[in-house]
This record gives sequence, structure tokens and C-alpha cells, in this order.
Amino acid sequence: MRYTEQSLPVGVAASPIPALDVDVVVVPVLEGEPPAGLRALDEATAGRITAAIESREFTGKANTVFVSPVSSAGWRPARILLVGVGGRPGFDHARVRQAATTAALVARERRWRRLAMTMSGVLPAPEDAQTMSEGLTLAAFYSGIYKCDADARPAPLESLLAAPDTTSADDLAAIERGAGRGYILAACSNLARALTNEPANIMTPRFFSDAASQVGSDAGLTVDVLDEERLAGLNMGLLLGVARASAEPPRLVVLRYEPPRASGRAVLGLVGKGVTFDTGGISIKPSDRMHLMKTDMSGGAAVLAAMKAIAALKPDLRVIGIVPLVENMPGGRAMRPGDVVRSAEGKTVEVLDTDAEGRLILGDALWYARHLGATHLVDVATLTGAVGIALGRSTTGLFGTPDWWVQLVGRTANRAGDRAWNLPLFEDYREQLRSDIADLSNIGGRPAGAITAAMFLKEFTGGLPWVHLDIASTAWAEEAQPWQPKGPTGVAVRTLAELACTSGEWPDTT
Ligand code: BES
Ligand code: MN
Ligand code: ZN
Repeated sequence: MRYTEQSLPVGVAASPIPALDVDVVVVPVLEGEPPAGLRALDEATAGRITAAIESREFTGKANTVFVSPVSSAGWRPARILLVGVGGRPGFDHARVRQAATTAALVARERRWRRLAMTMSGVLPAPEDAQTMSEGLTLAAFYSGIYKCDADARPAPLESLLAAPDTTSADDLAAIERGAGRGYILAACSNLARALTNEPANIMTPRFFSDAASQVGSDAGLTVDVLDEERLAGLNMGLLLGVARASAEPPRLVVLRYEPPRASGRAVLGLVGKGVTFDTGGISIKPSDRMHLMKTDMSGGAAVLAAMKAIAALKPDLRVIGIVPLVENMPGGRAMRPGDVVRSAEGKTVEVLDTDAEGRLILGDALWYARHLGATHLVDVATLTGAVGIALGRSTTGLFGTPDWWVQLVGRTANRAGDRAWNLPLFEDYREQLRSDIADLSNIGGRPAGAITAAMFLKEFTGGLPWVHLDIASTAWAEEAQPWQPKGPTGVAVRTLAELACTSGEWPDTT
């Protein structure tokens, strides 16, 4: 199958920079500070680095670059590339990650084959290595897979982290572990991007569940795919209601990671929205931007890819990944606005808008995660247009309860480069979901639309610690940035995988 790595693992070298056999040496530079090793860089380039800084051609502003050929006969690398990481105030992991991606995308564009990047030195070395390795690996994603022109496809870029040649053996081992971790996390982000990038005529519920079976079993996970008969046996009326009009049958994928000796009783349940195409159903969407609704399975892709990363990182915690998969279509058998459907848990829902389908399939999936023994829940979903009105295109909506769980997921997300911000779930929002004839309505009106969607999901969490990430405005980049081409972002993969590695910090789990 096609869902194999597009990128090469990131190596580590601790030899003198002039001896490296690479096309380019990338040097991260803080704004307003001279690059590390400026004298040697100037010797290699006949003074071009200092000249560029003095003329302010290059200032170190985040994600700007300057390239100079190497003219010194004593150097094997052909060029030096400076990449800005911005100034010290407000410095964080994202700046290092983005700078590494920016540099590697420039290298890829110019068809250089081998790159070495020196450490930023601003973060502790193992974290620095992990973050740079993530950034370099993220640059390998390519979206033009259906183009006939094979020359358009970028050649694989070999990347190295260049540790100082004075690094001790222990420090070098820690840097290598960091680089390995970063590669796993980013290669899995790229897997989620590849899945999200697929058009909906390819990416059907069955295609996703087949991909999940392959990816999951290759990774050593236990995989279970529930077909429509088993879903009916479980009375998943919300999921089956959404799936009704599609010619493509629904599926629900369960992936299990069970380490031989998990240290506590906690079971992390990850649930991802898998709507392979969202027309809106009978409450049909306008046509102008409807093509983007192929991305409505991004949360499901994030859960599958995070489970693959977790299988490789081997944390000390049991994890269950659940992806409900449907196509939301209009048609003669479709749910009508006003229909009442019953969830597997027993709660009834009046479907006042068939385009609020994500919360329906997630309601049944969250219940199933609890049914399978999850003790801590996180769901990821392209759930509402409203979250983009609240937070814009750079920030994921973060909701949930209790506070410690929300804070932990939020901190993990921000470090992983998936910026997220908490919105409230005050009890009075619940009134917007009142139905005249059923337990709940599936819409809460325009005010606080992202919040009322989260309040709907909360009804299905059984009071467990739960976080909801609304990635509707962050799963797909509408404009290119130096570190992020237009297209799927792989948001939430690194957050979920890193979260599974934090269970040592959770209270009350042993
Ligand atoms: N999949 C959409 C949300 C979405 C919008 C994702 C834009 C990505 C980009 C979701 O199923 C949806 O249609 N939500 C409705 C909810 C409304 C009917 C209450 C929305 O946001 O308009
Ligand atoms: Mn919808
Ligand atoms: Zn949707």
C-alpha cells in the first residue's frame, strides 16, 4: 500500500562541520544575535555571512533564509544556509521546529540531496534534537501524488543533525534518542496528512478501515473493524443515522495498544471523527467550498497516526483508538431534519440539522470507548465552522473537564506545535441543546457554536476526564507558509502521541 514513509530517518553526526559530506549546512540564528561559530562560517564563505548581517540582508527574523556558497577549499559542504528563529522573547519549541521545516523545504525545492543542521542551542539538547528532527521530517510531505509528471515529485532529502564535535558519548546517545523520537512523531504526522489529502472517491469508510488494518497490524496494534451489522447490534443509532443515505457502508475502527506491563489502571481512549465526505446531508452545504469536506476525517487520521506513533514510542499505558467512519450524503434514505434517533447509550436526539453529523457519530464512539474500558478520553474532530470564527486558522479549540486534564492536554499540544486554546463549558450553554421531543437537539444555534457542539459531546462522556479538540480550522492550511505548504497539516498527531507518554504525571491512576 501507499501509506509508507516518504521520509528518511534523521541521522546524527558529531564530526567537525567542514568534514561533513553534505550539500548544505543549515545554521539556525536568533534574531539580533550573531550565529554560533561566526568566524568559521565567515572563513568558509569569504566573509559573506558577516556582510549579510551587517547589511541587514539577513536579520534572524523567524523563517527567513540566507544562502551562501562555500568558497574555502577546506570545507566539504557546498553551501551554508542561515535560517532565522526569531528573537529570544517568546521563544518556544515551535520556532525551532518551523525553522527546520523552512530550511528543509528550501533544500528540497532546490533539489539538494543531503543536509546537516547544527543544533539551535536554545532548548536542552535532547529536546532540541527531537524538535529539529520533527521539523526536518515534516518537510518530506508531498501532496501532488496524482500528478502524472514524475519529475514534479521531490527527491528524498537526507538529513543529519550536526552535534558539536565535543559532545560526550552520553549526550550523543540522548541526542540520538531525541532525533529518533522526532522522526517517529513527524513521520506519523505525515501519514495523517497523506490520509487527509486523499480525495473522497478513494478515501471511503472501507478504504480508511483497510488502511487502518494495514497500518495497525504493521505497527503491532490489535485492530478490530466493526461493519454495519455489528454497529446495528450495538444500537449505534446516531452513527447509523448519519450513514443511512450513503452507498458506502459505515465502519468503526478500534486500535488497541497494550504494553506487556502497563504500570497503572488508566486506559487512554482516543476518538477521531471519520466523516470521509460531509455534504451536509439533506441540510446540504453550499457548493463553493464543499470540496474541502474531504478533510472531515482529519480527526480519525490523527488518531490512527497517533496510535502508530504510540506503538513505536512504547509508553507505559494502555491506549484505545476509535474511529467512527461514515459518509454524510443526501438521498431518498437520508435522515430528515426533525428525525429522532437513539444512541447506543440510550439517549435520544432530535436531528434538527443533518449537517451537525460529527457530534452524532462521536456520541456513539465516545460511549463505545467507555464500554471498552477507557478511563481518560480525548476526541479530535473537524467539528464546527464556529471554532474558526472564535480562534482563527492557527489555533485549535480546546474544551473539556476536569481542569487538570484540560491543562495537561493543552500544555502537551502547545509544546508539540499544535497550538490550542481553552474555551469554557459553562452549564448554562446546555440549555441551547434542549429539544421539545427528545433528550437533546443536535444543534444549539449560532451563538457559541463551537461550545454547544462540545456540550453535546460531553453528554456522552459519562463524567470521565475528557478533552475535545476542535480542529475544523487547523487541519487544513489554506495558504502556504515558509514551514507549511497549503494542504493537510497533520494537526493533533504529535499531541495525542506525546500525551500517551505523560501518564506518569496523571493523578489517581494506579
Ligand atoms: N464538518 C463540518 C465542520 C467544518 C467546517 C469542518 C469547516 C471544516 C471546515 C461539520 O460537520 C459541520 O457541518 N458543522 C456545522 C454545524 C452546524 C450545522 C451546527 C457548521 O459548523 O456549520
Ligand atoms: Mn457537517
Ligand atoms: Zn462534518
